[in-house]
Amino acid sequence: MNADAFVLPPRPKGEEIVRTTTAAPPPIPSYLHQHYWWAYVHPSAPKVFERPWLVDLILWGNYRRLIDAAMAALGQKLPGRSLQIACVYGELTRLLSQRIAQSGGTLDVLDILPVQLANLRAKLPADAPVSLLQQDSSAMDIPDATYDRVLLFFLLHEQPADVRRATLAEAQRVVKPGGQIVIVDFSRPKAWHPLRYLWLPVLTVLEPFAPDLWRNDERICLPPAEGTRSVKRRTYFGGMYQLIDLIRA
Ligand SMILES: C[S@@+](CC[C@H](N)C(=O)[O-])C[C@H]1O[C@@H](n2cnc3c(N)ncnc32)[C@H](O)[C@@H]1O
Repeated sequence: MNADAFVLPPRPKGEEIVRTTTAAPPPIPSYLHQHYWWAYVHPSAPKVFERPWLVDLILWGNYRRLIDAAMAALGQKLPGRSLQIACVYGELTRLLSQRIAQSGGTLDVLDILPVQLANLRAKLPADAPVSLLQQDSSAMDIPDATYDRVLLFFLLHEQPADVRRATLAEAQRVVKPGGQIVIVDFSRPKAWHPLRYLWLPVLTVLEPFAPDLWRNDERICLPPAEGTRSVKRRTYFGGMYQLIDLIRA
């Protein structure tokens, strides 16, 4: 299938989740069951975590700032096709889809958990130009060069290194040449940052793959340099968070 033929049907009434093929839904990865059942997999997880103030607390008050940074990096006009890889709690997708709607574009949001996709659908206005895909970020059933831009917001730190690498390779594959990939995630705080020492032990227990991004920024496993035309990196909150802005060659 080529990218032009990959057009999702309008959302059928009563059916909340659209898949791209008739194949069985992808299995839920073991790391989600093992380490993130409480945050995403449990059917009650959205009831607990779908609170902007709680997400903001978890991000030490930086939630809105990081959303604004992602939106600024993506730009004011967002025509064409955009992909958000993985649902997020809070307002990011509503704000992003509003901007995309104003530009006449469309947004696909891909996540492996039906409970998260259903939660996202419930948050969005009925006329939002958003399609939901139940897929694995590390093995997308999407043609090459489908999207004008791809956003990854706090997904990579939750994935083991091999899955993270595969997710980035997939993001690079499905974005068009000249298209943009924006990544917002953890990074290693500066040496003077008190949370560098206080938060790391907590993260190590709650989010066991996140310290990879602290120990060595390279472990975010950026796509190979030859596939990338430009890379900009900015950090926030004393280096604890980073935004990477890539243009595919
Ligand atoms: C984006 S991350 C974390 C977002 C952040 N904690 C927030 O809510 O702002 C959480 C999402 O990633 C999804 N996810 C994790 N691994 C995935 C994979 N391999 N494929 C697709 N979605 C995945 C989970 O199902 C969950 O909905």
